[in-house]
Amino acid sequence: MNTSTKPVAFIVGASRGLGLAMVAEYASRGWQVIATVRGEASTPLHDLAKHAHELIEIEQLEITDPKQITALRQRLSERHIDLLFVNAGVATRDTEVSALDVSDAEFIQVMTTNVLAPLRVLEAFESLVPNTGTLGVMSSGLGSVADNEHGGWSIYRSSKAALNQLMRSFAAARAGDPRAMLLICPGWVRTDMGGSGADLSIDESIPCVVDTITNATGIPGLRYLDYRGHTVHW
Ligand SMILES: NC(=O)c1ccc[n+]([C@@H]2O[C@H](COP(=O)([O-])OP(=O)(O)OC[C@H]3O[C@@H](n4cnc5c(N)ncnc54)[C@H](OP(=O)(O)O)[C@@H]3O)[C@@H](O)[C@H]2O)c1
Repeated sequence: MNTSTKPVAFIVGASRGLGLAMVAEYASRGWQVIATVRGEASTPLHDLAKHAHELIEIEQLEITDPKQITALRQRLSERHIDLLFVNAGVATRDTEVSALDVSDAEFIQVMTTNVLAPLRVLEAFESLVPNTGTLGVMSSGLGSVADNEHGGWSIYRSSKAALNQLMRSFAAARAGDPRAMLLICPGWVRTDMGGSGADLSIDESIPCVVDTITNATGIPGLRYLDYRGHTVHW
C-alpha cells in the first residue's frame, strides 16, 4: 500500500491520448497517480511510468466488465483518492454513421462504454473519495443538447448527452454532498479519437483541463465545464 501524503489521482482509461496526458500532468505536479489500462499489453503509459519515480501505479480495468470493477475496488480498498476521474471513451468507427446504419452492437458498445460504465466506476469508487475530493468524467462539448446546432458525430454525441444526464442524476441523488463533481469538455483535440484535423494539441488542452479541475476542487455540486473553465450549456 502506498503511504505517501501526496494527493492521489485515480485516472481511468489512461493508456494513450488525453488520459495518458492527464497522468503525466498530475505526476509532473507532484501527485501520486493510479492509472488504468485494459489488457496485459504494454502501452505508452507503461513507458511514462518507467521514468516517473514510482509516482505512477498502473492497474488493469476494462470499464465495461463489472467483475473487473469489483476486483479493482477490492484491490484499492485501503486507498484514499482525492480525484476520481473517468476518462475512457469511444466513438463509432464511422463518426457520421446514421441511426439507420449503425449496428445494434456498435451502438450498445458506445453507450455502455461512454454512459453506463463511467457511472458504474464512480458509484463503485466514490466511497474512497473524501469530502474534500473531486469526482469527474470526461464529457464533450458534443454532449450539449443546447449547443447542437449543426449535428455530426450523432451516435457519439448522444452518448455524451446521456452521460451528462446520468451524471446529473448521480449528483441530484447526492444533494448536499460537499464534493466537487465535474463533466469536462477537453476541446477538440488531436488524438486517435479527435483526428489530425482537430483544433488543439494535447498540450494546449490537458494542462488547462487540470487547472480547471484544480480550480473547481472544494466547490460542491455538479458543473459542466470546458477546458478553460467556462460553463458549457446543457
Ligand atoms: N479527442 C477529442 O477531441 C475529445 C473531445 C471531447 C471529448 N473527448 C473524450 O475524451 C476521452 C479521451 O479521448 P481521447 O481523444 O484521448 O481518445 P483515444 O485516444 O481514443 O483514447 C481513449 C482511451 O479510452 C480507453 N478506453 C476505451 N474504451 C475503454 C474501455 N472499455 N475500458 C477501459 N478503457 C477504455 C482507451 O484504452 P485502449 O488504449 O485500451 O483502447 C484509451 O486509453 C474520451 O472520453 C473522449 O470521448 C475527446
